[in-house]
Amino acid sequence: MKKLVVLLAVVAFVATTSMVVFANNGPAEVKYDTKMGTVTFNHAAHQKQFTDCATCHHKGLDAGACKTCHLKKKGDAPKAKDAFHKQCKGCHKKMKKGPTKCKECHVK
Ligand code: HEC
Ligand code: HEC
Ligand code: HEC
Ligand code: HEC
Repeated sequence: MKKLVVLLAVVAFVATTSMVVFANNGPAEVKYDTKMGTVTFNHAAHQKQFTDCATCHHKGLDAGACKTCHLKKKGDAPKAKDAFHKQCKGCHKKMKKGPTKCKECHVK
């Protein structure tokens, strides 16, 4: 419990991307603090629904997090905003499920 409190304090202190890490599946949840508000991505819930990790980790899991390549325009990797919007919104639109409006993801 004490550990959790410390962890939450650290997470709150780190104002940019924060991850709460569990086991080898990566973080259960990822929060993106953007100028338009916080985007909360429930990684665990998405993993349950999409068991093929390559659905999102299109370069494989060993390649690291999306932002290893997508942070800024690096080589031919589109920048983070475009990559996330395309993958996140793209799937929600295609499946007619999940948020597609700005304020449904970016919450102030
Ligand atoms: C719906 C999309 C999606 C699915 C499906 C998915 N992930 Fe992720 N995963 C993400 C996103 C987004 C991040 C955050 C990366 C970032 O912000 O750069 C992430 C982060 C991670 C990380 C931590 C970052 C790293 O690479 O070091 C691990 C580990 C990971 N995922 C493993 C998995 C595994 C294992 C599966 C399959 C069981 C899986 N993911 C399925 C989207 C997904
Ligand atoms: C090892 C580097 C690397 C990693 C890690 C990576 N990408 Fe990419 N991504 C690329 C490159 C390079 C491209 C350009 C097309 C190609 O080579 O596949 C791309 C293309 C894309 C596209 C298509 C963009 C377009 O305009 O067509 C999306 C969407 C995307 N990535 C999302 C993600 C997400 C989300 C993650 C994390 C779950 C991720 N990528 C992880 C390098 C990476
Ligand atoms: C491969 C398809 C797919 C991708 C990629 C995907 N999602 Fe989703 N997402 C879904 C589906 C389907 C639902 C609806 C789940 C339900 O209602 O049962 C959903 C629901 C959500 C929700 C609302 C429910 C919740 O978990 O709070 C949010 C927020 C969300 N997604 C954010 C994201 C973000 C941010 C990304 C990109 C980092 C992303 N999603 C990528 C398919 C996807
Ligand atoms: C499905 C969820 C989702 C929807 C819908 C969505 N976004 Fe995003 N947005 C994200 C994610 C995830 C990021 C990546 C944050 C990062 O790179 O740290 C992002 C990044 C951004 C950024 C860059 C912010 C920054 O501080 O770097 C802007 C601006 C933005 N979105 C605007 C919008 C607008 C405007 C809309 C509506 C037209 C919208 N978004 C809809 C999830 C979403």
